[in-house]
Amino acid sequence: MPTTLISGGTVVSSTGKALADVLIDGETIVAVLAPGTKSLGTDLKSSVDHLLDATGKYVIPGGIDAHTHMEMPFGGTEASDTFETGTRAAAWGGTTTIVDFAIQRHGERIMDSLAAWHERAAGQCAVDYGFHQIVGDVNDDSLKVMGSLVDEGVSSYKLFMAYPGVFYSDDAQIYKAMRVGAETGLMTMMHAENGPAIDAMVGELLAQGKTDPYYHGVARAWQMEEEATHRAIMLANLTSAPLYVVHVSAKQAVEQLAAARDNGQNVFGETCPQYLYLNLEDQLGAPGFEGAKWVCSTPLRSKHENHQEHMWRALRTNDLQMVSTDHCPFCMKGQKELGLGDFSKIPNGMGTVEHRMDLMYQGVVNGKISLERWVEITSTTPARMFGMYGKKGVIAPGADADIVIYDPRGHTSIGLEKTHHMRVDYSAWEGFEIDGHVDTVLSRGRIIINENTYLGDKNHGEYVHRAPSQYLI
Ligand code: URP
Ligand code: ZN
Ligand code: ZN
Repeated sequence: MPTTLISGGTVVSSTGKALADVLIDGETIVAVLAPGTKSLGTDLKSSVDHLLDATGKYVIPGGIDAHTHMEMPFGGTEASDTFETGTRAAAWGGTTTIVDFAIQRHGERIMDSLAAWHERAAGQCAVDYGFHQIVGDVNDDSLKVMGSLVDEGVSSYKLFMAYPGVFYSDDAQIYKAMRVGAETGLMTMMHAENGPAIDAMVGELLAQGKTDPYYHGVARAWQMEEEATHRAIMLANLTSAPLYVVHVSAKQAVEQLAAARDNGQNVFGETCPQYLYLNLEDQLGAPGFEGAKWVCSTPLRSKHENHQEHMWRALRTNDLQMVSTDHCPFCMKGQKELGLGDFSKIPNGMGTVEHRMDLMYQGVVNGKISLERWVEITSTTPARMFGMYGKKGVIAPGADADIVIYDPRGHTSIGLEKTHHMRVDYSAWEGFEIDGHVDTVLSRGRIIINENTYLGDKNHGEYVHRAPSQYLI
């Protein structure tokens, strides 16, 4: 097996940082050593196959994006990134594992949908990948089969309180599914928005001629998110199900999660970069149809209501535990355009998988989070939350050599013409400047990005058979 030494860097973990060398044998980290350690009197540098100089740079565990939707069917079209293009973009941005969603639609069987998503991803991924299971049809058969998902390495499933007629589950279905989740060691992930009430408001707005993308944000008011988050928490309380609320954007929803956690309940929350940097007025309210670029659910929130500061604070105080992207891009041409004249027909989602590590590092530079917290919310906690820790999320002997060398003196200008590798015809992050740079990325010991060159291939990524969450009690 080829050996690699990453020397001279500052190894950052969720709990601290130290100058150290990292020795890799094949796909696995075998040692984290004091700088310059010799082996049997020989300088390690001269005895390894590959030497990577990380002097002046951070050496961190590869990013884990626990919420992506490659090729997701939505609103009569499909997310524009395939597993091939989306995982390649992830690699460029220092993400070495994604957890995507197998999708059970109405009338489909869970295991058939899981098999179909395996087929889509196998042999197509530049980095490792796992699956959560979307349960879009909670019925007797689904409830029976959910029990065996853990055996498939799928230790989490997602329900939707939004999107009536598509993925929506009513309270009785949620209650029943959560009971199974609680009994079988599955993490219940929840899209918490009151879908039926949103649809009623959408109808009112459209009838008033309010058809622009901006009204997507008006219809999906924070009250819709707070109410659903509270209801999900109460149903989880009743059933003893562990609960993970996805794409939290409203400060009131965070308060619901914080109160439940203070009360001893096993609930968690994730936010996404878009809710930390973008807002209703400047993005969704952009002139003409431009706002469609940022139509996603939950929506971007008003800059006048202080949601963003609350999100950053919640990340610091652990009221929110992780940052994922909810990567689900659609091109403006031919896809977002489906909603010209009717915002409710704009496919929901935007592309961020490539930029999450950079955008969150900018949070370190801006004094919003610490360096260690950056590693924790982008890698270590996702690994622990979704049953991958030990192999993933940590630089330690025995772990997969998923490693990013990050240059704090480098710079990244985000934009379609500059650093964009996602398969989407615009950048939702156009013009963002990052005071840092992903220099080198290793996935299971293989260098897949080196100094602005892609060296990976679509056959490299392997399926991650996940264990139950470390946070189950
Ligand atoms: O807008 C979004 N979030 N699109 C993807 C589907 C979902 O709800 O996560
Ligand atoms: Zn969702
Ligand atoms: Zn999503």
